[in-house]
Amino acid sequence: MPVKLLHVVGARPNFPKLAPVFRAAAAEGLTQQIVHTGQHYDADLSASFFGDLAIPAPDVNLSVGSGTHAQQTARVMERLEPVIGESGADWVVVYGDVNSTVAAALVAAKLGVRLAHVEAGLRSHDRTMPEEINRIVTDRLADLLLTPSRDADAALRAEGEPESEIAFVGNVMVDTLLHSLTAARNTGFRKQLGIDDSAVIVTLHRPSNVDACDRLRSIATALSEIAKERPVIFPAHPRTAERLAQAGTDLKGVRVLGPVAYLNMLDLMEGAHAVITDSGGVQEETTVLGVPCLTLRENTERPVTITQGTNRLVSDPTTLPGLVRRVRRSATPTRPEGWDGHAGQRVVQALLAHTSPKAELLAGAPRPSPIPSR
Ligand code: UD1
Repeated sequence: MPVKLLHVVGARPNFPKLAPVFRAAAAEGLTQQIVHTGQHYDADLSASFFGDLAIPAPDVNLSVGSGTHAQQTARVMERLEPVIGESGADWVVVYGDVNSTVAAALVAAKLGVRLAHVEAGLRSHDRTMPEEINRIVTDRLADLLLTPSRDADAALRAEGEPESEIAFVGNVMVDTLLHSLTAARNTGFRKQLGIDDSAVIVTLHRPSNVDACDRLRSIATALSEIAKERPVIFPAHPRTAERLAQAGTDLKGVRVLGPVAYLNMLDLMEGAHAVITDSGGVQEETTVLGVPCLTLRENTERPVTITQGTNRLVSDPTTLPGLVRRVRRSATPTRPEGWDGHAGQRVVQALLAHTSPKAELLAGAPRPSPIPSR
């Protein structure tokens, strides 16, 4: 019997992480089922990603929609329990740190189905971030901790996770980025917008930036200042758009768009002078692209993007215009260890190695050499 994976995804950042794992598992002949929790339901936060990344349509959609954190988590748990219970899955695979991730982790653990966490071990050490709570709980419950960077291994060890459960596989999002670059360039999205390489791209959605009116206004003022000198393109998440309207912010000169599809966003970022963000994924993507990234946060769960990449934390929005003037693109972007386009294959090899000796013998695609542990 081939090994069966049940992938649970729900929100925008999950989809680029699922794509390379799904592809690698298909190449190994594994049986797979995709459950979409429905946490994100707008076409431009969800369906467009399945199209851009060639992920098959979900087998099950739990349609949980929006709500408070407790409501959303509880709805996923209630609706997912029978699906996992009847699936016969060898592994439930969860991604990243969204509410759907922790909800699925709780259900799998209580049903006694093995749980693998892709992107384990990231820590901001800031429990005011809902994602930090999701990360800690998911990692504590997971049987296999698939990490994107060495700092994540170290964080898990420090929390007492057994070495046998930690597998350093590298960054699956980078697989998707490298796989998609040509298609992203072919979208011609930057051309359609009529912008050149002086443009600044902005994404913001974290409560710490968009939920407090004063903070949001101060960011808006800085962005308008930058827009006097160069194009500023701001694809706004629906919650950000709502907050901007509520706060009555004046984003003079800034081009505010709706959320943009994955390939279009990649085209925008690759050609940008700089990116201003509070997203975790964007910090990683700009590192690989060599594009200066100014992260409007006090901390990051992705320190490797600062020590080895192009990322810089910015706590005071009034400093943004000066920083944007000073930053320069990196001529030779560095890629942290394991950010090489083969992380999805290493995820699948780790899953097989932790399943049963028989499963390891499955024939399949060429295997990248494992990254030795330190
Ligand atoms: C979620 C994740 C966050 C991730 C982000 C990426 C959690 C705790 N947060 O935040 O880690 O970085 O996704 O986008 O899981 N909405 C829509 N359409 C949708 C989905 C949401 O309009 O398809 C609006 C609704 O008003 C909703 C709000 O956005 O209440 C927030 O959605 P939610 O999924 O709770 O969190 P995000 O802010 O998207």
